[in-house]
Amino acid sequence: MTSSEAARQRLDRLWRRGREFLGCEVAILGGAMSWVSERHLVAAISNAGGFGVIACGSMSPDLLDAEIRGTRALTDRPFGVNLITMHPDLDRLIDVCADNRVGHVVLAGGLPSAAAIKRVKETGAKVICFAPALVLAKKLVRSGVDALVIEGAEAGGHIGPVSTSVLVQEILPQTRDVPVFVAGGIGRGEALVSYLELGAAGVQIGTRFVCATECVAHANFKQAFIRASARDAVPTVQLDPAFPVIPVRALVNKGTQKFMDTQREVIDRFRRGEIDHKTAQLEIEHFWAGALRRAVIEGDVEYGSLMAGQSVGMVTREQPTAEIIAELIEQAIESLQAKVA
Ligand SMILES: Cc1cc2nc3c(=O)[nH]c(=O)nc-3n(C[C@H](O)[C@H](O)[C@H](O)COP(=O)(O)O)c2cc1C
Repeated sequence: MTSSEAARQRLDRLWRRGREFLGCEVAILGGAMSWVSERHLVAAISNAGGFGVIACGSMSPDLLDAEIRGTRALTDRPFGVNLITMHPDLDRLIDVCADNRVGHVVLAGGLPSAAAIKRVKETGAKVICFAPALVLAKKLVRSGVDALVIEGAEAGGHIGPVSTSVLVQEILPQTRDVPVFVAGGIGRGEALVSYLELGAAGVQIGTRFVCATECVAHANFKQAFIRASARDAVPTVQLDPAFPVIPVRALVNKGTQKFMDTQREVIDRFRRGEIDHKTAQLEIEHFWAGALRRAVIEGDVEYGSLMAGQSVGMVTREQPTAEIIAELIEQAIESLQAKVA
C-alpha cells in the first residue's frame, strides 16, 4: 500500500462516525449561511460528497418548503435544514421539514428548548445543536440531541467568546456519546485533520464556501471576500455595556463605522433624556436589520453586513464547490501522509 493510500484510509477511519451520521462521503457540513445557503450551494456541497445545509433564516414555512423541494430537484444526496430557534413559526417550520422527510435538522441561534428538540425528534429527523460550553453540551446530550456543533469565535456570523482551539479541548474529550462537528476558522485540510485527531466526527465550514461558483452571493460580496485578509473579519464593537450588542464577525466596511456613530448618537439621546432605554436598545438592535440580505443579494458591500470568518484570508478566488472540497481533502491526506510515512 502506498503512503497516499494509507493516508486516505486513515482519513476514512478518522471521520467514519461523521460520515455515517450524515450519510455522505465527506464529513464536512456546509455551515448554513442566511441568504447564501440556498438550493444551489446546498446541492453543490451535497453533490460533491459533503453535507449541504439550507439556511432557513427568516423564511416563511412556504418559502422553506419551496427551498427544500428546489434543493431536492438539484441533488438526490442527503442535506439538512438549519432553523433559527427564535423564529416565530418554528413549529410550522419543523412540520415543513417533516413533510419533506428532511433527515437532519440543525437548531441554531440560541439554546433550543427541550420541546423543540423533542418535536424534531418525533418527526424522525436527527437533531444537531450548537454547544457553546461543556455544561451546555452535556445538557443538550441529556435532552436527546443526536449531534453537536462546537463553533469557535473565529467563525463568521454570530459568535461566542471562546476560540475553536479552546472549545475543542474543553468539549471533545468529555463528549463521546454523540458525534461532534467542529466549526470556526477552518480553511485548510490540515486543520480539519487536526480536529478529527482530537476526536471530532467531522467539521462545519461556512466562509470557505461563499466564493463557490454555485453560490448565488452577489459578485461584490464575493470580491470583498477575495480581497479580505483574516484581520479584516472582526466582531461588532459594543460601546456601552448598558446597551448590549450581539457579537457578529464581519468584514469591516462603512456600515461598521456608521454602526459606531449610531450607537454613540442613540446613547447620547438616551443620556439627554430624549428617549427611554428600551427605545434606544431597539434602535441599536435594528441597525443591522436586513443588512446581510443587502450585502449578499443586492451587493451593497459598503453598508450591508459582510459576515465572514477569519478564514476569509484563505479565500483567494471563485472556484467550484467540488474543487474546494477536493482541495481540503487533498491537504488533509497530504498532512496525514507525512505522519503515516
Ligand atoms: C455570511 C454568513 C451567514 C451565516 N448565517 C448563519 C445562519 O443563518 N445560521 C447559522 O446557524 N449559522 C450561520 N453562520 C455560521 C455558519 O453556519 C458556520 O457555522 C460558520 O461560518 C463556520 O465558521 P467559518 O466561517 O470560520 O467557516 C453564518 C456564517 C456566515 C459567514
